[in-house]
Amino acid sequence: MISSRLVALIGLVGSLFSHTASGLPSTSKFKRQDTLEAWIASESAVAYINVLENIGPDGTDVAGAASGLVIASPSKSNPDYFYTWTRDAGLVFKALVDQFITSGDSALLTKIEQYISSQAYLQTVSNPSGGLSNGAGLGEAKYNADGSAFTGGWGRPQRDGPALRATAMIAFGRWLIDHGYADTATSIVWPVVRNDLSYVAQYWNQTGFDLWEEVSGSSFFTVAVQHRALVEGSSFASQVGSSCSYCDSQAPQILCFLQSFWSNNGNFVVSNINTNNGRTGKDANSILASIHTFDPTADCGDTTFQPCSPRALANHKAVTDSFRSVYSINSGIAAGNAVAVGRYSEDVYYNGNPWYLCTLAAAEQLYDAIYQWAQVGSITITSVDLAFWRDIYPSAAVGTYAAGTGTFSDLTSAVAAYADGYLAVVERYTPSSGAMAEQFDKNNGSPLSAYDLTWSFAAFLTAIARRNSIVPASWGEQGANDVPSACGASSAIGTYSTATNTVWPTTIVPTGTATNTATTTRTTTTRTSTTTGCATPTAIAVTFDLTATTAFGQNMFLAGSIAALGSWDTDDAVALSASRYTSNNPLWYVTVSLPVGTSFEYKYIREETSGSITWESGDNRRYTVTASGCSAAATVGDTWRS
Ligand SMILES: *[C@@H]1O[C@H](CO)[C@@H](O)[C@H](O)[C@H]1NC(C)=O
Repeated sequence: MISSRLVALIGLVGSLFSHTASGLPSTSKFKRQDTLEAWIASESAVAYINVLENIGPDGTDVAGAASGLVIASPSKSNPDYFYTWTRDAGLVFKALVDQFITSGDSALLTKIEQYISSQAYLQTVSNPSGGLSNGAGLGEAKYNADGSAFTGGWGRPQRDGPALRATAMIAFGRWLIDHGYADTATSIVWPVVRNDLSYVAQYWNQTGFDLWEEVSGSSFFTVAVQHRALVEGSSFASQVGSSCSYCDSQAPQILCFLQSFWSNNGNFVVSNINTNNGRTGKDANSILASIHTFDPTADCGDTTFQPCSPRALANHKAVTDSFRSVYSINSGIAAGNAVAVGRYSEDVYYNGNPWYLCTLAAAEQLYDAIYQWAQVGSITITSVDLAFWRDIYPSAAVGTYAAGTGTFSDLTSAVAAYADGYLAVVERYTPSSGAMAEQFDKNNGSPLSAYDLTWSFAAFLTAIARRNSIVPASWGEQGANDVPSACGASSAIGTYSTATNTVWPTTIVPTGTATNTATTTRTTTTRTSTTTGCATPTAIAVTFDLTATTAFGQNMFLAGSIAALGSWDTDDAVALSASRYTSNNPLWYVTVSLPVGTSFEYKYIREETSGSITWESGDNRRYTVTASGCSAAATVGDTWRS
């Protein structure tokens, strides 16, 4: 398991570095370059590995999990999360499909195929919510790790799962179509997607349990992702030569219903309605809805609560402010400064604490918004979101600020800094191993509840992708944001059938970097990125791998001509890690995030046990940071020159 292995490695690193605690003069010690950028680079690798380790059949943390099943956490007791949830799995695979599309990682291709095959099977498993014949069984929240039904008591049904699963599968189906595999999209993906769309169309107007599995009623998150799924489901249907009349009839009605969650008086989303739970309604539910219905080609539309919309920004303030006074680790942090974010302030699960994925969502919404303003070409501040802006930019005033003006750039900089603040909160409360649990303690910040929560890691990966302007495909928000004049209770019956074809052709080849699914051309506004599947990264996480045999107590550092490497000041050199060092492979490494286009010289230095330093021999090494396609990572392999 990664967690125990990392713990062992921490022990190893601890002993390698133990001399630093043994009272050497402080002047002989190098400062650690502990910037947010460096943490993001190293955490990205940890998060990605941990996601894969929680997926069957070969995830090393989840032995016994069936092929394609995402296990929520390896934790089997206190709490037992060793199950596959349709919601968590859908969100995780949406992130992995998007990563596959931009990176072309062939390991992900197999996983995605296994996921879709596994879901085709799970749809047929009769469970306490029902079976496939009338769709009711698709609302079951979770299954055993071997794919059998979970028959214990639970909050059922949960109606967001089929929508999220459809969204993940459609993203892959579109990639197939765009790359010449339309037959596979039609014969394998569509029948599985169709069951889920049918479920949404039939049951969206019935109550169910919310994403936290506590409240039976109508949940904003559920309704928002249902709308999205039917909109993109309809266009996917036509791409595979079919149609989805039940999507077309129900999507506008779902959007109509979605409006009723907005509190005009309070300026926030009431996350649970059609229930009486005694809460304010301020809940990270709504922030998660905004990021999971983010459309990079959308305007800042209020009707779909796009991340940059005045409603979603006002809601961001209301929800994040609601945690300022309830967690002691947030105490004294004023509005406009990032805080640890939980589910909702009245939460009592594990006594109610911040969650990694909620804090990350608060960052992600803001990164999404920054992308959208750039696409739209302006920021419009209204009376609805003025208070959000005043917190981070005190002189903010109602008005429209065009891209290219000083105010536009000041406003976006303020939002970027605020967003990074949420990442810094997550950094502060993530152990040095990089492991992310479900929660962290509201009083002392230490990890709590399920360890290595798959969703926490996936939430980190998507937040960082958005920070790097890597965005998912449009789901068609522009054509689906008109609210009907009257809302009605409704339902439509689709088609349920066992998706029998799950044999994937072996001829599918990943492409990476060059796909054209992420954004569509806008003609009305300024564009700041190209029409490729990703924005060209502006910074690259450069990993320096150094082969250097060292004695116990010696440490390696990277010094160089730029500030990020200490400007040749050895006190500010960057420490390399020995966490992967073995006698057969004496590897030291560090990852540093550097702006594209940076050219610099560097050298490695060795800190002796005495604290003195030894420079490697030879000329300065040289490196230029270049972007290659969508990839935001690069590796340099060096060997110590003695
Ligand atoms: C069904 O839709 C109607 C019209 O939008 C709405 O008033 C009602 O609350 C909805 N009920 C549920 C359970 O979704």
